[in-house]
Amino acid sequence: MKQRMRRHIVLVGMMGAGKTAIGTEMARRLHVPFTDSDHEIETAAAMTIAEIFARDGEAFFRDRETRVLARILDGPPGVVSTGGGAWMRAENRALIGARGLSVWLNCDLDTLWHRVRQRSTRPLLKTADPRGTLAALMAQRNPVYATADLTFDARPGDTIEAAATRLIAA
Ligand code: S3P
Repeated sequence: MKQRMRRHIVLVGMMGAGKTAIGTEMARRLHVPFTDSDHEIETAAAMTIAEIFARDGEAFFRDRETRVLARILDGPPGVVSTGGGAWMRAENRALIGARGLSVWLNCDLDTLWHRVRQRSTRPLLKTADPRGTLAALMAQRNPVYATADLTFDARPGDTIEAAATRLIAA
C-alpha cells in the first residue's frame, strides 16, 4: 500500500542497533526515500567517518553531522538513519523534533557488541577495551535516547524484515 508521509521517521540509537538495515527496509515498504546521515557525510567529504575523525577530530565531525541532518530534514519526508551520537546534541534533537518523528532503536549490549566487533570502522571504539567503551557509551546515552518520541525494543532474534514490520505497525 502506498503511504503518504508528512514527517520524516528518524531512527536514533547506538551503533549496531540496526538503524541503517531496518531503515532501508522500512523506506522500501513505505515507498519513501531512505537517507543515512553517516553516508551523506562521507559522500560530501569524500572521506570515511574514520578518516574525518582522524584528520579533523570529533568536534568537526559533529558540526558536519548537524549541517547534513538539517539538509536531509529539509528534503522530502522519508526514513532517516542517524549516527549514534547525533541524538546527543540538543540542536539536532530540536531539528529532528521540528520535522520528524524520532524513534529510538533500543538494543541490548550483547547484540550491539556482536554486530560492531566485526567491523573496525567506528573510531569511538578504537580503545584498549572496546566492549567496555561501548557499554559506557550506552549507559551514558540511553537516558537521552529515551527522550525520543517512540522507543522500539529490538528483539535479538528479529530479522530485519520482522523488525521493520513491527516498527511500521508501531
Ligand atoms: C558514532 C556512530 C557512528 C558514526 C560515528 C560516531 C557514535 O554511526 O556516526 O562513528 O557517536 O555513536 P552508527 O551509529 O551508524 O554506527
